[in-house]
Amino acid sequence: MKSLSFAGKAFHLNNLTMTAFADYNFSGKKALIRIDFNVPLDKEYRITDDTRIRATLPTLRKILADGGSVILMSHLGRPKEGPAEKYSLKHVVAHLSELLGVPVQFAADCIGAEAVEKAAALQPGEVLLLENLRFYKEEEKGDTAFAQQLARLGNVYVNDAFGTAHRAHASTAVIAQYFGAGERLFGTVMEGEVKSAERVLHASERPFTAIIGGAKVSDKILIIENLLERATDIIIGGGMAYTFFKAMDGKIGSSLCENDRLDTARELLKKAEARGVTIHLPSDSIIADRFAADADISSSLSNNIPDGWMGLDIGPLACDMFTKVLHASKTILWNGPMGVFEMEKFQHGTKAIAKAVAEATAEGAFSLVGGGDSVAAVNQFGYADKVSYVSTGGGAMLEFFEGKELPGIAAVKA
Ligand code: 3PG
Ligand code: MG
Repeated sequence: MKSLSFAGKAFHLNNLTMTAFADYNFSGKKALIRIDFNVPLDKEYRITDDTRIRATLPTLRKILADGGSVILMSHLGRPKEGPAEKYSLKHVVAHLSELLGVPVQFAADCIGAEAVEKAAALQPGEVLLLENLRFYKEEEKGDTAFAQQLARLGNVYVNDAFGTAHRAHASTAVIAQYFGAGERLFGTVMEGEVKSAERVLHASERPFTAIIGGAKVSDKILIIENLLERATDIIIGGGMAYTFFKAMDGKIGSSLCENDRLDTARELLKKAEARGVTIHLPSDSIIADRFAADADISSSLSNNIPDGWMGLDIGPLACDMFTKVLHASKTILWNGPMGVFEMEKFQHGTKAIAKAVAEATAEGAFSLVGGGDSVAAVNQFGYADKVSYVSTGGGAMLEFFEGKELPGIAAVKA
């Protein structure tokens, strides 16, 4: 039985029945919550994008309103040598306190005496944030003793870290086994992410268009292969498009190209044809004489780019064509930008796609945007609230659409 509704007693997913977050009463409970507070910080340790923190507020508020207490655990960055100031989660405390309207306590070590004492003393309505889990190498190793030490801090486990669900780490996957089946659940972020991703992957209304962009074909082979089984149309943009043009004997000047992936590109095109999936490549490009914000620019057919020039964005013909495809779509998945949108001269294509996705959504399509760069683009261009769902997952979202089972999801469902 598959149900996409959260109403009623249970959350149904791939034949498994889990406790729905809304139905769990956290009164008197100490909820140990894995969230993904891996947020970007500037040099003064100020948060430059708090999307992932804001996303968890409904989960935290519900637990506190029930009369539970909250113990938060996360990683931040990729520390390699134990504790480091720049990776400390203490930089998040003030902002989280402000957003929640509750003073957030902090334990300077995620395990050990301080964490145990502070967790034990926590009263209903109180919040404790633990220091960066990755200050211990045991976290990424999925060490069971470390996971058990964390597990002792709470009596119900909530995994709300979709962004880290593709990692089989101690706090994201291994820990779940130390809680009974009724005492481990998804939070609202995880429920929302899984619900919208499942809707796109397994219950999509057709035409279903996937927009895949970014620099490298090698990063996107598996997602394209999986989408060939499900989508009606695949739009390919960004640097990876030029590997496809070269594979078809096009002239691509000095555009990005993975020469060891030309056969792969040809195979993907062949598979698409066999399956009746239409691949849309950008027929024209904005080209530049070098990779720089102040480069000289021109436009060109994407398969006839002059020597010494490189394609850095899709061109106006491609924008028009892709916009038409999107307007005809009922389901849209977007992962990866169309060009180097961080530079003003090469942002038009990504902006045009964001606009078209928003318009199609207003016309009734379901649209899911994920992956760090495409999410940054919809935020930057002001379309985040005009698409159906913005994912907090980069790598996790990609792996979900590659058809992989994510360890963080599997462990809670098990
Ligand atoms: C992310 O931002 O991709 C997640 O927080 C996971 O982080 P990681 O890629 O360092 O495991
Ligand atoms: Mg990552």
